[in-house]
Amino acid sequence: MEKPGEHTKTVFGPRFTSSISKEEFVTLILEKAHTQKQKSQSKACWLKVIPKVRNTKSTQSKTGHKGKIMKIKSVPVKSSEITPKETYLSRRDFLKQMGIVTAGAALLAACGAPADDMPASPVDPNLPTAEAAPAPPDELTDHEAVINYNNYYEFTTDKERVATLAEDFISSPWTVEVSGMVNNPKTYGVEDLLANFTQEERIYRMRCVEAWSMVIPWNGFTLASLLKEVEPTSDAKYVRFETLADPDQMPGLKNGLYPWPYQEGLRLDEAYNDLTLLATGLYGEALPGQNGAPIRLVVPWKYGFKSIKSIVKIELTDEQPATMWETIAPNEYGFYANVNPGVDHPRWSQASERRIGELKRRPTLMFNGYAEEVAHLYEGMDLTKSY
Ligand code: MTE
Repeated sequence: MEKPGEHTKTVFGPRFTSSISKEEFVTLILEKAHTQKQKSQSKACWLKVIPKVRNTKSTQSKTGHKGKIMKIKSVPVKSSEITPKETYLSRRDFLKQMGIVTAGAALLAACGAPADDMPASPVDPNLPTAEAAPAPPDELTDHEAVINYNNYYEFTTDKERVATLAEDFISSPWTVEVSGMVNNPKTYGVEDLLANFTQEERIYRMRCVEAWSMVIPWNGFTLASLLKEVEPTSDAKYVRFETLADPDQMPGLKNGLYPWPYQEGLRLDEAYNDLTLLATGLYGEALPGQNGAPIRLVVPWKYGFKSIKSIVKIELTDEQPATMWETIAPNEYGFYANVNPGVDHPRWSQASERRIGELKRRPTLMFNGYAEEVAHLYEGMDLTKSY
């Protein structure tokens, strides 16, 4: 039963509600616009890896994970590419303002927006298109938004409760098993990963399949550096990733609708691409539990659901791995999941996106703006079929 001022929507059966009224929406928009105007900043640089060694830095997360970030290499970006920390932190409020987020869970919607908020094409003709309005500069998303509005179904499908439920998540000690078609299988403690591989800071755009986006400063190391050490055999063609499935810590695992454990996969050449990161921190701090402590994948040219969290297993294989979202809804979530403004999701357009903290939509860029680095991986492929 809808209460006054609430909007109820149905996605794949389950119902969820938004508790924001039209008046609140308008007020919040105006407040946000005012705050954002005061926050603009800029400094040039983007995606040229400049090997710049920083001082060794200790990190200690709330979840108990302690690690040393060694040999840090920073990846310069336009600081205007970075979403301000405050905006990152207030992502939930912003999404509410934009009417994108509802209070409850959107079942079977990777990344979190109610499916019918973002109509499939044709796109709203009043929205700016790539031709009419070139992408404005990027800004960092607020830290608070990044750590307080999460998708982590092992805890809950309610994005606003993940942070609380993951507060005491035990992410130390932690091991990652690297096995399968490799010459040197090995089980690494996270402290070995931090000490043995060059840690870098990478500022990446993140584009959710539900057409919102952020810019996040990650800390981590390239998956390629790990793969080189374990030496995939000549038969290996894919990398499969698996998340911890611990029912004592993760109440969402009781939800039998999902084929646990959460799994993801990459083709080997995607895994070797220099952009592909195993992240151990964000905003210069160890990863919080809700963001996938102590180690998660970040693949910036793909939709956010590829970024599998709290990895315990990495397996090299010769078969394309089953992924959780593709298993659940293969017509909606493909194995590749490349950001592509020309290929709509069956339930919403991918032509434009709403950057958290901005009022106007911006055009979505092919491969999320990383075409120069990754387009060659997909030459000759029909991306409408391999989506
Ligand atoms: N990894 C696991 N293990 N479980 C999940 O539910 N959700 C995915 C991805 N990785 C998810 C996951 C989705 S749908 C998104 S959009 C991102 O994590 C969200 O990452 P964030 O909460 O750090 O923004």
